[in-house]
Amino acid sequence: MAAILRRFSKPYTTLPTSNPKIPNYVRRMSNMPEDTVYGGPKPQNPDERVTLTTLRKKHRKGEAITMVTAYDYPSAVHLDSAGIDIALVGDSASMVVHGHDTTLPITLEEMLMHCRAVARGAKRPLLVGDLAFGTYESSSQQAVDTAVRVLKEGGMDAIKLEGGAPSRISAAKHIVEAGIAVMGHVGLTPQAISVLGGFRPQGRNVLSAVKVVETALALQEAGCFSVVLECVPAPVAAAATSVLQIPTIGIGAGPFCSGQVLVYHDLLGMMQHPHHAKVTPKFCKQFAQIGEGINKALSDYKQEVENRSFPGVTYSPYKINPAEVDGFSKELQKMGLDKAAAAAAEAAEKFETGKNIQTS
Ligand code: KIV
Repeated sequence: MAAILRRFSKPYTTLPTSNPKIPNYVRRMSNMPEDTVYGGPKPQNPDERVTLTTLRKKHRKGEAITMVTAYDYPSAVHLDSAGIDIALVGDSASMVVHGHDTTLPITLEEMLMHCRAVARGAKRPLLVGDLAFGTYESSSQQAVDTAVRVLKEGGMDAIKLEGGAPSRISAAKHIVEAGIAVMGHVGLTPQAISVLGGFRPQGRNVLSAVKVVETALALQEAGCFSVVLECVPAPVAAAATSVLQIPTIGIGAGPFCSGQVLVYHDLLGMMQHPHHAKVTPKFCKQFAQIGEGINKALSDYKQEVENRSFPGVTYSPYKINPAEVDGFSKELQKMGLDKAAAAAAEAAEKFETGKNIQTS
């Protein structure tokens, strides 16, 4: 470990402090310095917008950073209202939204669609978009081009990429040099399932544990603002967190990280189908059983539609006065639609008296 530290140690650069002269209405993009010359687009809560500066301040104060995945407008709105710091448009969308077995099949176009929806709903959190498998591995140029699209077309503030092979470190460096904030991701990197031989925890022997720390350091050196540590033992995550100057965000990595991330559907217990329930990760605490609620609501709806108690009078709010119904029936009769005229009159009568209408 000492060797690793020596190799990567360099003078700690003091990070810029916020400038009190900057008006609060300036939107603080994560990848822009705070004292920008131009205002740019306005968020809903300008003074609360989470930026890299916000995260650095939290990290420096030892405050835990919260991150949750989001894939669409409603999940983004929920994260925003809950005050979550980072909304990650994760490629886990491939599994929890599109129903694939792995994160590999999702395309850049699909990810961009998720990103745009999340950007419309989450105005306060820092927005991080995952680079989809197959869209950044060929060259640093390809990685920069994809990252640019994620910001330009997806409306994200930053990107995340997986892995720590030299080509990946170089890609991270080039993306940062292009002016885009990068979050790294080490340990279990689901896009590497082919070489990892399955969704297996990492860092469980000396070699693998040292590799996790070395890779995280290399990503920091490349300019990443944070690193996700996925499915590694707590002592390994603790070592990485203590050696890094940037925050670590753990998922299945124990309590000693600078922050935590969970997948939205796992956290809410949304996947109640037996197939999905069995793949809910061991490290995920289900903070709710929303899936049970959804199942119950859908079967109640089915039952009430089938027994005609819904919508009833209560959920049929649009009224027509008796004179209009009368005129309407007469018009229908003139058109030769006697049956329809009778149906309209009968319905009006039932609504008037409330008889023979089931109410929910
Ligand atoms: O795609 C994703 O959801 C992720 C998290 C597991 C960190 O990368």
